[in-house]
Amino acid sequence: MRSAKDFFRPLAVGAPQPLTEIPARPSRAIHFFDPSNEKMAAKIPQMVGTVDVLLGNLEDAVKADNKVAAREGLVRIAQETADLGGQSGSTQLWTRINALDSPWVLDDLTTLVPAIGDKLDVIMVPKVQGAEDIHYIDRILAQLEAKAGLARPILVHAILETARGVANIEEICGASPRMQGLSLGPADLAADRRMKTTRVGGGHPGYLVRQDPPRGDDGTAQIDADRTTYQQDLWHYTIARMVDACAMHGIYPYYGPFGDIADVVACEDQFRNAFLLGCVGTWSLHPKQIEIANRVFSPSVEDIRHARRVVAAMGDGTGAVMLDGKMEDDASLKQCLVMVQLAEELAA
Ligand code: GLV
Ligand code: MG
Repeated sequence: MRSAKDFFRPLAVGAPQPLTEIPARPSRAIHFFDPSNEKMAAKIPQMVGTVDVLLGNLEDAVKADNKVAAREGLVRIAQETADLGGQSGSTQLWTRINALDSPWVLDDLTTLVPAIGDKLDVIMVPKVQGAEDIHYIDRILAQLEAKAGLARPILVHAILETARGVANIEEICGASPRMQGLSLGPADLAADRRMKTTRVGGGHPGYLVRQDPPRGDDGTAQIDADRTTYQQDLWHYTIARMVDACAMHGIYPYYGPFGDIADVVACEDQFRNAFLLGCVGTWSLHPKQIEIANRVFSPSVEDIRHARRVVAAMGDGTGAVMLDGKMEDDASLKQCLVMVQLAEELAA
């Protein structure tokens, strides 16, 4: 029988895994649904093909009394929905299991893997603290997959939502060849860090810098409250860390949830910042966020056109050329190739 090892790339300790070695499947929007909510579940079949990933959520936002119903609902949806998940599904099927310190997680795994393991593409693990959490999941999955005779390993995605998880980010990314990616979990992370916010993702009007005061002829500052302020991004540090750690290990970084569903403008800004910094996708908590994510996490037509011009102008890829008054060289070519490769993966 084939073992899970047959499906994994050999992982030399410490060797960076280039992103190109992971089979690229678009995952711009990971759309969350509660499988215990019948109204939501009924809409799933029509959503297949319209979104890159549908994620049946079993963790936070599902009431304790509904944990079993959510798990069973997910099994039913996966079994009854055509074209969802697995090697041939046009939309991937992911789940977010309960946390490792909860009473539900073992039942989540031992129910889902035998019943729908062939359709589950990725398991999202919340509140990951260190490599040991990924090792635990990896071992259980290997046993359950072998028992179920699954032909394809289920991949693992960790949510970065504890200070300890952030401190251990590199070891988490490299903890298993199953690692597919990381998401920012801004709500739990804010609480764990004792940040003074009460929201799910996004900025805060109090987190700002103010322009320097004008100075009089004698150099005295004219302090007034009306000077221009600039709101800062609460999440820049964590996202930048996540992008570096993921790039180093050849896995994918994602933004996470943006809870103010009505504020589509700020949502788009947060998603775009994440895209520009290197993230490949985000969570969607409402159908209107799918459209925003699909647009923002795809390179624009102008960017692709420009990138292709640079690639063509750079010929064998060495030296420097001038295009529209700007210098392009080997390094700008590499950036353009990222854009062209992404456009091709999304069009495939
Ligand atoms: C997501 O789970 C978060 O805590 O933000
Ligand atoms: Mg959370």
